[in-house]
Amino acid sequence: MERKTKDQIKQDELEKQVAYISQLKELNAGKLKKFVLTTYGCQMNENDSERLSGFLTEMGYVEAQDYKDADLVIFNTCCVRENAEQKVYGHLGALKKYKEVKPDLIIAVCGCMMQQKHVVEHITKVYRHVGIIFGTHNLYRFPEILYKAINSDSPVVDVWEQEGRITEGLPIVRAHDVKAWVTIMYGCNNFCSYCIVPYVRGRERSRKVADIVAEARGLADSGFKEITLLGQNVNSYKGDAGDQDFAYLLEKLGYVDGIERIRFMTSHPKDLSDRLIYAMRDIDKVCEHLHLPIQSGSTEILKKMNRKYTREKYLELVEKIRDNIPGIALTTDVIVGFPGETEEDFEHTMDVIEKVRFDSAYTFIFSKRTGTPAAKAANQVPEEIKKERFNRLLNAQNVISHEINEKLNGAVLEVLVEGASRNNPAALTGRTRTNKIVNFKGSNDLIGKLVNVKINKIQTWSLEGEII
Ligand code: SAM
Ligand code: SF4
Ligand code: F3S
Repeated sequence: MERKTKDQIKQDELEKQVAYISQLKELNAGKLKKFVLTTYGCQMNENDSERLSGFLTEMGYVEAQDYKDADLVIFNTCCVRENAEQKVYGHLGALKKYKEVKPDLIIAVCGCMMQQKHVVEHITKVYRHVGIIFGTHNLYRFPEILYKAINSDSPVVDVWEQEGRITEGLPIVRAHDVKAWVTIMYGCNNFCSYCIVPYVRGRERSRKVADIVAEARGLADSGFKEITLLGQNVNSYKGDAGDQDFAYLLEKLGYVDGIERIRFMTSHPKDLSDRLIYAMRDIDKVCEHLHLPIQSGSTEILKKMNRKYTREKYLELVEKIRDNIPGIALTTDVIVGFPGETEEDFEHTMDVIEKVRFDSAYTFIFSKRTGTPAAKAANQVPEEIKKERFNRLLNAQNVISHEINEKLNGAVLEVLVEGASRNNPAALTGRTRTNKIVNFKGSNDLIGKLVNVKINKIQTWSLEGEII
């Protein structure tokens, strides 16, 4: 008997899904079926949701804003911190009454939270009105899962423990028109001791260079001007041939006509190579912004976090980056209250914040994640100390962010116009190459164009100005 390759098996699987899409489309014909999709967590989850929207659109569903209009409600969940999980449980509880008045309503939960056994057990026990549970590894099977749920009285639970091969060619409806997310790799191998991601997203798998370049070309053909390459640690990207590292991928993407700007996230400091720094310096389209999570400024805590760099190494890296790419904006992630963090450790973090002067920092209070080593550590920091340190850090960073932005007053900056401003529909919004939000007056035909804006007002999180 002829044996099928893994690629052929995957292809057969995809064809099966296409058949389910056709059946659902037929089922929905002539009816106005609506869905509400809520996404938590990182941009990779947002990108997964764009794929779900792609499937749903092909099946004939349209998006609704309110649960009360929906035939299908989906939560694409995150479990990186406890509060992300609590929000989902809150919504699931509130949806019970909708299901009671509309028994055909299908409530689905997917994403990272579902990759944890105790979560699935809790949802099936407590939230019996949930009709679909699936995980991160089998998103491509969503049409089949939905079809089964519609044709069954009992909930469909389909969560895979192991990651499978990467699935290319899934439909997509993008959240934005000018900029697009492009996931270049899945999973994480780093096992930082506080982090749940490696347990729920599996081991690192990179997409092929040719597939990523083809996606970028397609985006350029559809009028997109900016791409953001996504991975938990893009620095360990490995293409299908030996020498295809992340710098190589950036170089290839730099040749895609029509794409004006390339961004990426996230970079782990331990893997940030000189080749990547030079690629950022030399490839015009790669923007002058680097998100480089430090997590802590204490070498002792970094060791306990399993981050594999010291405070000194991080500072050296920052110096090298700034020497090569003057004016680059640096942003970071910081966790306060990691188990065993002393006042002195925290002072070290504050000191690095003052020394590096990040453009902005995402600051998090350490959250215990079941199954991670840090959750079991005996020396947990009391809540009130965590909160007090968090506030001190936030206040210090806000001052720095504002001071850095102050220096831009009067400067003329290149802005890619993204659309109407969220807070003021009469104004346009866009970003500088350094990823600063700029709001300004202008006509809608500028959307998707690069314009020069003279900055005349400074806020901590955004800038205002006028086109020149
Ligand atoms: N892979 C990226 C990295 O290494 O920086 C991002 C990982 S995670 C999606 C985003 C951020 O969440 C992390 O950088 C970290 O600061 C924070 N985080 C992860 N686990 C956490 C936890 N248990 N408690 C608080 N913050 C956490
Ligand atoms: Fe989590 Fe660390 Fe992986 Fe980032 S690199 S996803 S923080 S384990
Ligand atoms: Fe959350 Fe999963 Fe992203 S845990 S941060 S949605 S990878």
